[in-house]
Amino acid sequence: CSKHTVMSAVRSESTSTCPVLTKFQKNCATPTTFLRVVADAIADDMQAGLAVHGGGDLEMILTYVDALPSGKEEGLFYALDLGGTNFRVRSVQLGGEEERVVATKSEQLSIAQKLMIGTSEELFGFIASKLADFVAKEEPGRFRLEHGRKREIGFTFSFPVNQTSIDSGTLIKWTKGFNVSGMEGKNVVACLNEAMEAHGLDMRVSALVNDGVGTLAGARYWDKDVMAGVILGTGTNACYVEQKHAIPKLQNQSSSGTTIINTEWGGFSKCLPRTIFDQEMDKDSLNPGEHVLYEKMISGMYLGEIVRRVLLHMCQTSDLFGQSVPAKLATPLTLKSQDLCKMQEDDTDDLSSVGSILYNIFEVKADLKERRRVVEVCDTVVKRGGRLAGAGIVAILERIERETKRLASGQRTVVAMDGALYEKYPQYRQYMQDALVELLGDELACHVQIKHTKDVSGLGAAVLAATNSIY
Ligand code: GLC
Repeated sequence: CSKHTVMSAVRSESTSTCPVLTKFQKNCATPTTFLRVVADAIADDMQAGLAVHGGGDLEMILTYVDALPSGKEEGLFYALDLGGTNFRVRSVQLGGEEERVVATKSEQLSIAQKLMIGTSEELFGFIASKLADFVAKEEPGRFRLEHGRKREIGFTFSFPVNQTSIDSGTLIKWTKGFNVSGMEGKNVVACLNEAMEAHGLDMRVSALVNDGVGTLAGARYWDKDVMAGVILGTGTNACYVEQKHAIPKLQNQSSSGTTIINTEWGGFSKCLPRTIFDQEMDKDSLNPGEHVLYEKMISGMYLGEIVRRVLLHMCQTSDLFGQSVPAKLATPLTLKSQDLCKMQEDDTDDLSSVGSILYNIFEVKADLKERRRVVEVCDTVVKRGGRLAGAGIVAILERIERETKRLASGQRTVVAMDGALYEKYPQYRQYMQDALVELLGDELACHVQIKHTKDVSGLGAAVLAATNSIY
């Protein structure tokens, strides 16, 4: 609380003398009335995307996950997780309702930058070779594969995929830091199968899922009130449980029961005013024009870069760091969201960690007034991101509410949340939560639980492989 008082005192003192910052803050403002407009526009795009393929900014992908985990699943299943800078392999021995997860083992490996922008053969070859190593090290006593069965995999692939069945789908486009050549429009599972075959691995992908879907399913395995899975990490996305009768584009499929929809909400772009810094960052990104604006305004991959661009502009207009423009400030992607967090968390009188971060990254010696300005820029960008994320979650909750009336009847409704941005940035979390309560109102918001379910998507994918097992 005292920190906020300090922050607002800092703001009134310095913005009057800093035109670039004042204008930036004005352009990034997210009053409740504006957030309501955003939540409603997301809701409209959800409806449009459910009506027809390509109807709105949100893809509203049909995931073919109609059966949610019950807890009764049994057997040995595997999970592969590809979507960020790390790649994970997991094995899970499911023991049914009483025993649940009997044993699990996982391994995490980092994906080299060159694989993210190389060829599909290189990327999937790497994945298959690591999977082969993992299986070769298995301890037979703990993990039991029934005789005559192939090892089945739940493959979490955290990019937009045009799903053609539960176990196949074609890549729509790459997002985040990936741009592997020649893969758009290709069947992701076929690429993995080819690589597994080349490595002599006789395994089968039984479920292809997005990380949001995996998070929802993994959390639902333990908690029946989970209705949505949200990712706030390098990228962002939301998946939720929808009533089939409310999906016009399902056409001749059965309209009873529920299914999970992968919204791909990162692609939302209506009514969000873009600052010049957002526009230039998008133009210089690996995927200009894709997943504009929402993902690029709210997720971990971009927040630091927006701040860096604002700081650079402030320097160039002499609003910061005196007359000189530090050369390193002109280098893209040097500032990470972790750095913003550390700077915002600094509660020392002289903002000493802000000073050392600026020195370590940009080789700049900032005085106290300059450090305060930098913190203000971080706060402006993070506040906008967190509050916009909150508006998105409200759009999802209101959509679920429209069909189920859960909140109105006092039923606990859980949003399973994963991603490093949410996990490691308390101030971002707070802004997100504030927006949620402002829009939903205390009475409904008190039945909503945002539950941090770290790394549960692997379990979710393995359980969905079990649900969709061919045996
Ligand atoms: C990106 C991907 C999406 C994924 C999200 C979180 O937005 O397009 O599929 O779920 O990042 O990892």
